[in-house]
Formats: sequence, structure tokens, C-alpha cells
Amino acid sequence: MAKIGIFFGTDSGNTRRIAKDIATLLGPEVAAKPVNIRNASVEDLLSYDTLILGIPTYGDGQVPGLSTGNQTESWEEFLPTLKGHDFSSKTVAIYGLGNQKGYPDEFIDAVYYLYEELDICGANLIGLWPTEGYTFNKSNAIIDDQFMGLALDQDNQKDLTPERISTWINSLALA
Ligand SMILES: Cc1cc2nc3c(=O)[nH]c(=O)nc-3n(C[C@H](O)[C@H](O)[C@H](O)COP(=O)(O)O)c2cc1C
Repeated sequence: MAKIGIFFGTDSGNTRRIAKDIATLLGPEVAAKPVNIRNASVEDLLSYDTLILGIPTYGDGQVPGLSTGNQTESWEEFLPTLKGHDFSSKTVAIYGLGNQKGYPDEFIDAVYYLYEELDICGANLIGLWPTEGYTFNKSNAIIDDQFMGLALDQDNQKDLTPERISTWINSLALA
């Protein structure tokens, strides 16, 4: 079995496409086929030692799901199921999708909520990412002057994404 599980939530498909790109970069020996979080259980996540989790931000800086107008369930519905589970043997890296021009005060905020829940569950969180190269006012997803995961903006900086993904994946040193 591949050693890295990739799970994502999405409404308009960007976060799924990035999940596929990451899986391709890592290769099938290393990464499993990405799974939509609405079709996953906590046990599915716990079956991997290493996880890469993708989350877009919806609403006004919210976790995506039915209450933010997504067409299907997503991280909003999944996050409460994490409570009480032990992720202390798990390494987790998060990537977040957002729009820094449209939502400059809530840029990739959902990454923060996912990060916090996993932190409470004891996960070893890796993959912090510099804030240089982005223009925004505020983001909850910042710790020690870095984003809590890879920040991607397909609405305004799509051309920078491939380079950002490969730099981030290499920095994780997973393969
Ligand atoms: C209704 C709506 C609300 C959004 N709210 C935010 C937000 O608060 N912060 C942010 O950074 N991006 C926000 N975005 C941008 C999305 O996160 C971005 O377009 C992302 O690429 C969508 O990912 P998906 O295609 O996987 O659903 C919003 C987009 C929409 C359509």
C-alpha cells in the first residue's frame, strides 16, 4: 500500500486538480489515489502514516461545506468526526486554496481550522510555507510568520502554482 494518503475537499474542482498534481509528482508507489473527504472516514485517514490534506476556504474565511453553499458535504462535515482520535503517530501536511484579491482579510483561513483540529489530535504538522509573494491583509492561517501549509491561489496566481507545489513537495522530503 502507498504510504501517503491524499484527501481533499472541493466545490469547483481546484483543490481536486491540485491533489492529482501532487499525487502525480509523488508517484503511485508513494502516494495513493486522492480521495474526496466527503467519501472518507477518520479510519481511512488513520490507515496512513503520512497525510497530505487539501482544503479551500469558503464563506467569509470558513471551512467549506453545506453551510458555506458548497454543493456537497466537505471538511465542515468531516472535522467534527476527528475529535478524540489520536494522530500522534501521523505526519500531516496541509495545502490551502484561496483568493487573496477577493478575500484579502480571510486568505486561506480554513487552513487554520484544519491545522488546529489536527494539532489537538496530536498530529506532527509539517509543511509551513513563507508568506512572501502573496498580497493580502490578514490570514488566520499564519504561525511563526509562515502559512500553516502551502497557500495556492488559482484565481490570481495560477501560473505560480506548479513551481510552488514542486518546491513544497520537495521540502517535505517524503518520497
Ligand atoms: C463564495 C466563495 C467564498 C470564498 N471565500 C473565500 C475566503 O473567505 N477566503 C479565501 O481565501 N478564498 C475564498 N474563496 C476562494 C476559493 O477558496 C478559491 O476559489 C478556491 O480555489 C476554490 O477551490 P475549489 O475549486 O476546490 O472549490 C471563496 C470563493 C467563493 C466562490
